[in-house]
Amino acid sequence: MEDKILEVKNLVKYFDVGKADILKAVNDVSFHIFKGETYGLVGESGCGKSTIGRTILGLYEKTSGDVWFNYENVHGLSEKEQFALYRKMQMIFQDPYASLNPRSTIREIISEPLEVHGIFKKKKDLMNRVYELLEEVGLSRDHVNRYPHEFSGGQRQRIGIARALALNPDFIIADEPISALDVSVQAQVVNLMKRLQREKGLTFLFIAHDLSMVKQFSDRIGVMYLGNLVEETDGEDLYENPLHPYTKALLSAIPIPDPDIEEERERIILEGELPSPINPPSGCVFRTRCPMAMDICKDVKPVWQEIKSGHRVACHLYDQNYKDSPPTGPQRTKEMEEEEIQA
Ligand SMILES: Nc1ncnc2c1ncn2[C@@H]1O[C@H](COP(=O)(O)OP(=O)(O)O)[C@@H](O)[C@H]1O
Ligand SMILES: [Mg+2]
Repeated sequence: MEDKILEVKNLVKYFDVGKADILKAVNDVSFHIFKGETYGLVGESGCGKSTIGRTILGLYEKTSGDVWFNYENVHGLSEKEQFALYRKMQMIFQDPYASLNPRSTIREIISEPLEVHGIFKKKKDLMNRVYELLEEVGLSRDHVNRYPHEFSGGQRQRIGIARALALNPDFIIADEPISALDVSVQAQVVNLMKRLQREKGLTFLFIAHDLSMVKQFSDRIGVMYLGNLVEETDGEDLYENPLHPYTKALLSAIPIPDPDIEEERERIILEGELPSPINPPSGCVFRTRCPMAMDICKDVKPVWQEIKSGHRVACHLYDQNYKDSPPTGPQRTKEMEEEEIQA
């Protein structure tokens, strides 16, 4: 059996946003990540990806649910135990401009986690570690006394990666690490992360809003919509056998380089607006925009269930009657629906 490094169980995170309003940012999300793999978490902006990352790291307090890291319950530890545990988990942020203190030198930025955790007694050892980290991410030791604004976006993200690596973590949450970068440097940063993963046996939670970005980098992918995980499987299976209507719509929006396929392809345009997480739809949160919505979707929240080995989905189309021959897409007709209801 593969070893799980992280297990998130029924995680809920609500924000109190005043006037008695509760914003349901993450609503009962469960998934796990195996040691050494990259788990891609994808979904449009505002669906709760960063909140999941931050709650795993304890930057946000959970509302309910559990997070297990190396089979230890992260939220059940003493402060001291948590401090030790968080050495093993680090985060790389989306915006390399905002996440580096503009008044700190590169040396201060990278050595900070080492100092906080009191890793080195001698200044010289600390400096050597900073040099080593800079070189690992493709920067030069001559850069140590410079400030973040003297670097390009790609270089700044390398600095962020060096800082995340400083404590030799096992697990890194990379929250849209390439979304803010020029397309020309995105691949370089992805390749750097891949190399570091190989060399150090790192596990990644790779967050992105764009499915084509996660595809290249992830072993397994989870698709989110409005605070909920709606589908999960390995990268290839997701592209070849998407089950959830939302995943199908996301996939249909990705251009395919082959013009013949591209021309024949049906693009699924989602109707309506993204509902507010303060007042999400009843039942299935996707139903207000789902081309396949049925009566049951309004009343009953679909269960997060494993349909095939390793392929999970939360959608009433895959409840028992549909399980063996799920309808394939929006081309499903009213008559088909009626037949199914009668059956
Ligand atoms: N600290 C916070 N206080 C209130 N609402 C928040 C906070 N952080 C995130 N949210 C809200 O939670 C929802 C999910 O946000 P987020 O996790 O940042 O989404 P994503 O990373 O997928 O873009 C959004 O509606 C966002 O406005
Ligand atoms: Mg985010």
